[in-house]
Amino acid sequence: MASTAQRGTWGSKAGFILAASGSAVGLGNIWGFPTQVGQGGGAVFVLIYLACVLFICLPIMVAELVMGRRAQLDPVGSFTLIRPASSWWLVGMLGVLAGAGILSFYSVIAGWSVAYIWYAATGAVTGDADAIGAFFGNFTANGPLSVGLALLVLATTATVLLGGVQSGIERVTKLMMPALIALLLILAIRAATLPGAAEGLTYYLRPDFSRLLDPSVLNAALGQAFFSLSLGMGAMLTYGSYLSKHESIITAALWVVALDTSMALLAGFIIFPSGFSIEGFDPSASGPGLIFAVLPRLFATLPGGQLFGAAFFILLTMAALTSTISLLEVPVAHFIDAHQWTRRKAVLLVTTGVFLLAIPSALGNGAVGVFSRLPGIGVDFLTLMATIWNNFALPVGGLLTAVFVGWVWRVDQAIEEVELHGAPFPARRLWSVLIRYVCPAAISVIIVYAVVSL
Ligand code: PFF
Repeated sequence: MASTAQRGTWGSKAGFILAASGSAVGLGNIWGFPTQVGQGGGAVFVLIYLACVLFICLPIMVAELVMGRRAQLDPVGSFTLIRPASSWWLVGMLGVLAGAGILSFYSVIAGWSVAYIWYAATGAVTGDADAIGAFFGNFTANGPLSVGLALLVLATTATVLLGGVQSGIERVTKLMMPALIALLLILAIRAATLPGAAEGLTYYLRPDFSRLLDPSVLNAALGQAFFSLSLGMGAMLTYGSYLSKHESIITAALWVVALDTSMALLAGFIIFPSGFSIEGFDPSASGPGLIFAVLPRLFATLPGGQLFGAAFFILLTMAALTSTISLLEVPVAHFIDAHQWTRRKAVLLVTTGVFLLAIPSALGNGAVGVFSRLPGIGVDFLTLMATIWNNFALPVGGLLTAVFVGWVWRVDQAIEEVELHGAPFPARRLWSVLIRYVCPAAISVIIVYAVVSL
């Protein structure tokens, strides 16, 4: 077992919040959220998403941070320490697998963002909506290019992790987060003034309640909330293990959830008004290409659009990197803690494994080829990966974490850990009810409902 000194701790609470937000804010907010809103029917998805964040994910965020801080170990070690000689460590193992699985497709999309830095800066993506869509289609159909870009993202992530925890993540995030917020605000204001913006805002904000109980919408919103908040796979648990006993877990959790959710909502305020300003725009049709199809048109309407475009994709890439770092850290921390591997060996071996799994996701985006339409399933490999890990593995991980903290470890133990820094846990009764009853029941119902209606 590595000592605290070997594992590292955060420099300060601000450092922890920055790092945990760096994990949470990423492609999930800016690429994933608008894409899911587009496929989930607009405002109704937003509403369900917010309910999931507040009533399911926030309590689970607290639970993960508490477990991590108590055990000071990776997910597998934490479950084992709190409940030795039981099978609960398997939940941690699911998280280790989910970290690698998510990173495999995430690195492909982050690679697209890298390429778009160049395309935006050189003004390569121009023309009408069809031309911009076709550009993205041709670009992603180049499998070897997508593989190379994913490798670049993974290699960069691995390099940061080799340098240890604190020095890398805190510093990058401190610069990136304010710049990203400022740029998103500018883009949202510009988007609101485009012709057609009102229609986009209506789509984004006025719910069509007929889809409220659509099982696929409920499942997608739940999965997206877990994915965006880096929950259900032990990432926040791992971050909690680096959190000092003097800090308030509740304040940290609230900050991370508020920041992450605001960034996702802000991304929607950019994509939908500018999308609807394009003739014949159908938000449900674009899939993973949505932001790559809409944003270049928005940049073109700005003075110095090429510069804005390049800056945007640089920041998106940085936001993605602070998330890939935490995705890779979960399996890496596991092999360091549980198998006494050196950090170097863990980083190299896990990154290689993830890269091999990333290849089919990178190759599946052309119109032809086995990975673009899997036999018997009908979707591409990347979409399959995203569905398995985000919509099922993360919520199931969250469900089991809630049951573990609420019923096995028991809430009074968790509350004691929360109150260690010397102040009472403000909504302890409410949190106990949510973690013991609401989270397990709501997640089970949504998952079962989604599976039976597949
Ligand atoms: N939360 C990240 C995003 O929204 O892009 C993705 C992610 C990072 C998910 C880390 C899970 C995780 F452990």
